[in-house]
Amino acid sequence: MVKVLISDKLSPKAADIFRNRGIEVDTKVGLSPEELISIIGEYDGLAIRSATKVTPEVLEAATNLKVVGRAGIGVDNVNIDAASGKGVVVMNTPHGNSITTAEHAIAMMFAAARQIPEANASTQAGKWEKSRFMGSELNAKTLGVIGCGNIGAIVVDRAQGLKMKVIAFDPFLSPERANDLGVEKVELDALLARADFITLHVPLTDQTRGIINAEAIAKTKKGVRIINCARGGLVVEADLKVALESGHVAGAASDVFEVEPAKDSVLFGVPNFVATPHLGASTAEAQENVALQVAEQLSDYLLTGA
Ligand code: MLT
Repeated sequence: MVKVLISDKLSPKAADIFRNRGIEVDTKVGLSPEELISIIGEYDGLAIRSATKVTPEVLEAATNLKVVGRAGIGVDNVNIDAASGKGVVVMNTPHGNSITTAEHAIAMMFAAARQIPEANASTQAGKWEKSRFMGSELNAKTLGVIGCGNIGAIVVDRAQGLKMKVIAFDPFLSPERANDLGVEKVELDALLARADFITLHVPLTDQTRGIINAEAIAKTKKGVRIINCARGGLVVEADLKVALESGHVAGAASDVFEVEPAKDSVLFGVPNFVATPHLGASTAEAQENVALQVAEQLSDYLLTGA
């Protein structure tokens, strides 16, 4: 009988799908790397979110493994080279949490524009600092979207609803698609120079690592606000800290960090910096979508090879 291990917290509906399709399923969340290595040999499929690290050592021990399914988008926690070398297919669910992540980016943009977290803390501390929190409207501002794939395109749509002017940098964005989205396609330097708000929606690759560094920030408008709900490492945290402290960057919001879990960051405590703990996909709707999608995809692959 085909056997699947769910090793991260997924909606229980994923296990139901496997069972309904005649697949034996075990759910074991919170395994240590050694524990995972000791049992992975029993399984044909592995369903994960971001906590399980599928390392070369895990893959070496995975003698029956045919497929890894990531309930979510980024497969940074899977060693793709090692998986390919062993003939293990790696799948993700590229659409299941796109709306949720895009909505989080918009929420973070509002939070940074109106200093909502700091105003909340101050108000609940009984300070009533009405004159301290002067914000910025989003209306008629230019939003620079770096990366116009599934999530970036939804951000574009929502920002247009807020009456922002949207420009986008994405080497893979065709002129036709840009036209359909109603965005102006620009080069990175033009985006940096023109944007009032910048939001990142690209994966972390050798090309994108540190795309927002001191040199890039120097090309931005004074007063720019920067939102990162994509991946830590796209923004050089030490450079952003300097720019926030000097006031060149008026506000920044990050859901992702160079090191996660981010128990500490140079950005913590910097004025006008808003942080959330990688909540981009954390809605009930998105988690159900990605769990159902990954279970269907893994079942299809294991049962039919499709
Ligand atoms: C993703 O890659 O799907 C998101 O970053 C969400 C997550 O990792 O939980």
